[in-house]
Amino acid sequence: MITVTGSINLDIVATGPTLPRPGETVTNARLARHPGGKGANQALAARRLGADVRLIGAVGADDMAEEALKLLQAGGVDLSGVQHINGETTGVALIAVAADGENLIVVCPGANKALRPADVTKQSITHMMGVLEISADTLLAAAEVATGFVSLNLAPAMAVPDALLARASLLSVNETEAAFYGDALHAQGALVAISLGGEGAALYRDGREIAREAPPQVQVVDTVGAGDTFTAALTVALIEGMPERDALRFAVTAGALACTRPGAQPSLPQRAEVDRLMRETWR
Ligand code: RIB
Repeated sequence: MITVTGSINLDIVATGPTLPRPGETVTNARLARHPGGKGANQALAARRLGADVRLIGAVGADDMAEEALKLLQAGGVDLSGVQHINGETTGVALIAVAADGENLIVVCPGANKALRPADVTKQSITHMMGVLEISADTLLAAAEVATGFVSLNLAPAMAVPDALLARASLLSVNETEAAFYGDALHAQGALVAISLGGEGAALYRDGREIAREAPPQVQVVDTVGAGDTFTAALTVALIEGMPERDALRFAVTAGALACTRPGAQPSLPQRAEVDRLMRETWR
């Protein structure tokens, strides 16, 4: 069982020809709503890749909560650790996606930031995944309770206590986040994964690169959720005992498949798809 301690959002997505620059208005976009949130995306990604998954998180006591939880429920993620908090709104992400698949995201955390350390300290957690769309204190509390593999996706980038980094078995970041954290990423002995967009990803131990893989070539439609898929796939593979290079191949393949369909959770791949594309790519 993997316990994800993280965020749950409803994604409001405008897909148009280009992304706006600051001060610019762009038009002719199509509107869609999908369940999202980095924590929820990683929970469902891990579930679709074959893990038993429980999610600890929070939504508001509003109409958006049901919509945000619907694919998690349908996918068989255990939601017994999800609270509905009166007086808070469900987290919302406002997302713009361009024709080339690039995106901009603004998150309104709402209930996600109301999740407190006391909400996790009474839980029993073996393996865990966590993200920074909830408070760092709550994430630290979960990491301190966890007795197994601790996978922390340090997104979005923000100052975090050293004690949190010290609990990690795996730290995952994109290039922007890697630049923000700098050497601190490598200081506490965790395996570090840096995703490189279309270039794939690299793995580091003690600051030394130990593996680098390019993803299979795919038709990119929407990159939202690709990083979450990458992190979840790498975590699932390492917990399963896959060697690090194979785990990295598995993760870049899963991340690439998530780019081929629109939306965060609707695009998360199933295990059989990832295994098939991996076999085709690395015969
Ligand atoms: O990583 C993608 C996610 O970031 C979206 O689903 C959105 O909710 C934001 O949290």
